[in-house]
Amino acid sequence: SGQKTWGGRFTGGTDRRVEAFTESITFDRRLYRHDIIASQAHARMLGEVGMLTPAEAEQIAAALDEIGADIDAGRMEFRISLEDIHTHIERALIAKLGDLGRKLHTGRSRNDQVVTDVKLWVRDAIDELDALLKDVQAAFVASAGREAGVVLPGYTHLQRAQPVLAAHYFLAYVEKFQRDRERLADCRKRVNILPLGAAALAGTSLPINRESVRRQLGFDTVARNSLDVSSDRDFALEFVFALSVVAAHLSGWAEEWVIWSTTEFNFLDLPDAFCTGSSIMPHKKNPDVLELTRGKAGKVIAGLQQLFLLVKGLPLAYNRDLQEDKTAIFDAFDTVAGCLGVAAPLVRETKLRRDVIAARLEDGFLDATTLMEGLIARGVPMRSAHEAVGNLVRECEGKRCRLADLPDAAFEAACPGRGAELRGTLGVANALAAFTSVGSTAPLEVERQVREWRERLV
Ligand code: ARG
Repeated sequence: SGQKTWGGRFTGGTDRRVEAFTESITFDRRLYRHDIIASQAHARMLGEVGMLTPAEAEQIAAALDEIGADIDAGRMEFRISLEDIHTHIERALIAKLGDLGRKLHTGRSRNDQVVTDVKLWVRDAIDELDALLKDVQAAFVASAGREAGVVLPGYTHLQRAQPVLAAHYFLAYVEKFQRDRERLADCRKRVNILPLGAAALAGTSLPINRESVRRQLGFDTVARNSLDVSSDRDFALEFVFALSVVAAHLSGWAEEWVIWSTTEFNFLDLPDAFCTGSSIMPHKKNPDVLELTRGKAGKVIAGLQQLFLLVKGLPLAYNRDLQEDKTAIFDAFDTVAGCLGVAAPLVRETKLRRDVIAARLEDGFLDATTLMEGLIARGVPMRSAHEAVGNLVRECEGKRCRLADLPDAAFEAACPGRGAELRGTLGVANALAAFTSVGSTAPLEVERQVREWRERLV
């Protein structure tokens, strides 16, 4: 048990199979930067309270910088017998500083250390995700600006419903990703509470100063209850939940664009650089990036389930099960960051096939609801208006024509004396121009929102 930090009470070594089974170094090594800055803050605090001299604290901090540089340069040899990243770094420190290195872990446990490191890591991850999400929003806003004036069929049940401006469509995704950013920002508030100082589970009898560590590491507050700290992974659940929502948004969008890029729809011109071909069919241009975005969402959502199953049966306080939180956290981040990283340029470089969209825009009765509202505005009770327009649509289906092709008499029957006026609600251009409500696809409303988003996203 020679190299183990906890070897004292054991006789003989750990079974190799147990070492291989219990190690986390293969995945928690990516915490090393955060482990080092947390240890430096801890050492400097020990220097302030007299557990170390200030000079010793600085010696430790400097040695930790060297260890960080060694890891950066690939000079650290990782061994499963040393369990995790925390033990590797502490062992390297002891190798450099001898007995002084053996003082670093004063007033600290791996239980509060590991959750501090993970919180520092998640905090950085949230900041990175915010920038990635903002870039995806900016890409959608750019499309909204570029395709201003283009009208799209809006769908419910994937059936043609009402016309919407392309800009309104693109801004719908901007709103979704805005809520995602807000969710992550809210999660960050609880991430940014300092666990360190809880020690193993009960705190410590040594004169630590948690406020100093809080200040050095930029946490907002100090966690109040040590027992809670060493078992708390709520922040991980919240983080992976927020990422699951991002993944769901991306997946729904990807599915929509897979459909829109089919020959049947043909709404989109996807950039060649973001598509792939077939090894046998020479003509193929496949939307693999979108399909993988849809496919990878499953892993993120599964990670959330994994975390819930991990914590749901744990008594206070730390339990080794919690070591398994990191794979879910890291994988959710890697997956979503990867998806966002390709989504932004794909959105920027995808163009609407305006001619194809326009050629079929008058199909599917996109103006029927506006016609009904025209009747209502002229005093016809809503349910009567609904039924009247339903009858007109049925008549069109029989004649294979559009509402605008019906004779005046058809509208006179629905709205005696004012049938001719109703022509002004027919056709997609008229229907679209008729919208007025706040948050609708009304052209002035959409134009204003595009302007506002441009300003907000600089
Ligand atoms: N590698 C462990 C983890 O990630 C560190 C904490 C170990 N603590 C313990 N009491 N064995 O959770």
